[in-house]
Amino acid sequence: MTHTNERVAIVTGASRGIGRAVALKLAAEGFAVSVNYAGNTQRANDVVAEIEASGGRAMAIQGDVADPATVEHLFAATQEAFGRLDVVVNSAGVLKMGNITTENVEVLDSTLATNLRGNWLVMAKAAETLSEGGRIIAFSSSVLGKSFPGYGAYIASKAGVEGLVKVLANELRGREIAVNAVAPGPVATEMFFEGKTHEQVAQIAALAPFGRLGQPEEVADVVAFLAGPQGRWVNGQVLRVNGGMV
Ligand SMILES: NC(=O)c1ccc[n+]([C@@H]2O[C@H](COP(=O)([O-])OP(=O)(O)OC[C@H]3O[C@@H](n4cnc5c(N)ncnc54)[C@H](OP(=O)(O)O)[C@@H]3O)[C@@H](O)[C@H]2O)c1
Repeated sequence: MTHTNERVAIVTGASRGIGRAVALKLAAEGFAVSVNYAGNTQRANDVVAEIEASGGRAMAIQGDVADPATVEHLFAATQEAFGRLDVVVNSAGVLKMGNITTENVEVLDSTLATNLRGNWLVMAKAAETLSEGGRIIAFSSSVLGKSFPGYGAYIASKAGVEGLVKVLANELRGREIAVNAVAPGPVATEMFFEGKTHEQVAQIAALAPFGRLGQPEEVADVVAFLAGPQGRWVNGQVLRVNGGMV
């Protein structure tokens, strides 16, 4: 059912971290939101409950973004429940560390499955579904500019995402659907903290001139800008959102 003036967004990976902040921000801006997640049903339901408590509309939809049938279902269920679709944000992602060794090729395969194949499928379905004025927002990472040891698989996946964003922007010529990526620097989420010592966290936080980690809400604000009326002339771009880290 469509509500007057309500717009509709899908946010993948929205049970936690940046995706959660994006879902809450878009809901606060008047979007009905499909909250996709991989396995954390309780956390996804909490996000939905938080949106509903503020008077918004949301629903949780479990499913792996790397699976075509799941992505199909995610879009169909969203349109069925909310009656339209305006914005697709693909925040689902994984960070798996491992140097470039023969044994670690599995790290590459599993990272590419979620981060690159997942983006391909979500972007493809978004391109098929959205109409004029639609927005597609993917996630890269500012770590591309750092080339830290151990980040090979992750950086390869995100370099791929940046490539897909620019190609899709060209493929959608004439349809007024904007395709962009946000490339955050280090943000205080479980993905960032996992496996790092306090010293490593402090070192990385100090890299940006602002001398601290980003907060999920600071990235969500940029996504909301790209998703909203003020972002309408931004297309085919990668926005580095990182407190000035180069
Ligand atoms: N945090 C950073 O410092 C940082 C920096 C640059 C870029 N990014 C990018 O920003 C995005 C969000 O990162 P984050 O820090 O918010 O991560 P996070 O806190 O680890 O949350 C990851 C989210 O993605 C979901 N997810 C994982 N695999 C999935 C799959 N195959 N299908 C559907 N959902 C899946 C998780 O669902 P479950 O809860 O169900 O597991 C969770 O909601 C990612 O693309 C990441 O690469 C993050």
